[in-house]
Amino acid sequence: MKAIQLEKPQSFRSLDIAEPAAPGPGEALVRIHRIGICGTDYGGFLGKMPFYSYPRIPGHELGVEVLVVGEGVTNVSPGDRCSVEPYINCQRCYSCRRGLTNCCEHHLTLGVMCDGGMCERMLLPARKLHVSRTLTYEQLALVETLAIGCHAVDRAAVQAGENVLIIGAGPIGLSALEFVKVGGARSIVLDINEARLAFCKERMGAGATITARGDASELTALEAITNGQRADVVIDATGNNKSMAQALNYCAFGGRLVYVGITQQEISFPQAPALHRRELTLLGSRNARSRDFARIIRLIEDGTIDTGPWITHRARFDDMIAEFPTWLKPETGVIKAIVALD
Ligand SMILES: NC(=O)c1ccc[n+]([C@@H]2O[C@H](COP(=O)([O-])OP(=O)(O)OC[C@H]3O[C@@H](n4cnc5c(N)ncnc54)[C@H](O)[C@@H]3O)[C@@H](O)[C@H]2O)c1
Ligand SMILES: [Zn+2]
Ligand SMILES: [Zn+2]
Repeated sequence: MKAIQLEKPQSFRSLDIAEPAAPGPGEALVRIHRIGICGTDYGGFLGKMPFYSYPRIPGHELGVEVLVVGEGVTNVSPGDRCSVEPYINCQRCYSCRRGLTNCCEHHLTLGVMCDGGMCERMLLPARKLHVSRTLTYEQLALVETLAIGCHAVDRAAVQAGENVLIIGAGPIGLSALEFVKVGGARSIVLDINEARLAFCKERMGAGATITARGDASELTALEAITNGQRADVVIDATGNNKSMAQALNYCAFGGRLVYVGITQQEISFPQAPALHRRELTLLGSRNARSRDFARIIRLIEDGTIDTGPWITHRARFDDMIAEFPTWLKPETGVIKAIVALD
């Protein structure tokens, strides 16, 4: 069957790989219909993702159809359309035993640390499949991206009416924006990219936007919007260590700062005294939990989340290798590119 492998940075190749074995106990054989492409895939392609190993079949944002189930599987049946929770956890470590399956100590993300779904069929643990009767495969492939923002917003326990500043209007910041809106909080988005801010206002219903210029104007604008108080919650989705340090300064008294963006660089805090003076809480956010997938599917099914604006680019599987480099260019306005296998 067909597969696409990232052999090494900058180098995809088409492969013919063996069919998966019959599903064992607790497993399901699935057909891949849609694959979402995200920053992790771009980072893997560019050789800039520290957790990425090669050669690798990418693909972790998947809309799949169940073909055959193994012994003991009761949550899905052949013919079911599913989203895939691509976080493979050991179920035994300290984190897993405490229910923190999103940050298992032996965590493997499909398509990043082990082979993913850029192929026709694959075996998956059935417990990682989340069914919808009504969503399209494209919508199901979007659930994982949304789950990252869902978890980040949950980490801060965002309350209705609070001011939430999202820094970084890429797909991860936008996914957080969806759940800030769902929770009835007031959203403010800060980015250096004017086109992305315009998209946030015009298509994503952001309450307010601020252009980051790297000067005092950002804080002045934030204070003007928040009645001088700054943001109750700041979610940094830039992955930029300077932005992550500066984010502390945007928190209100008693505020919470969530790092959903990832940096390998040192973060140093010139504003460190604010942590004490304003009694701030700093939170990490990694992946998402199983229950987020079910919740997001419900929110798309009932129309609370509109997936319409999200998918900006589409490609057929056979054209993916040629199309992929074009999605790296910001001027294409890509938010989410989706690869179709049928
Ligand atoms: N927590 C998780 O489990 C998880 C999962 C997936 C991705 N991520 C991380 O989330 C981050 C965002 O991912 P993405 O795909 O949305 O990336 P992206 O590059 O598409 O978006 C980042 C945005 O931040 C903006 N930005 C950069 N520096 C800025 C600054 N100094 N001030 C204001 N805005 C700035 C950019 O203009 C861009 O719009 C990355 O670090 C990624 O690795 C985290
Ligand atoms: Zn992703
Ligand atoms: Zn574990």
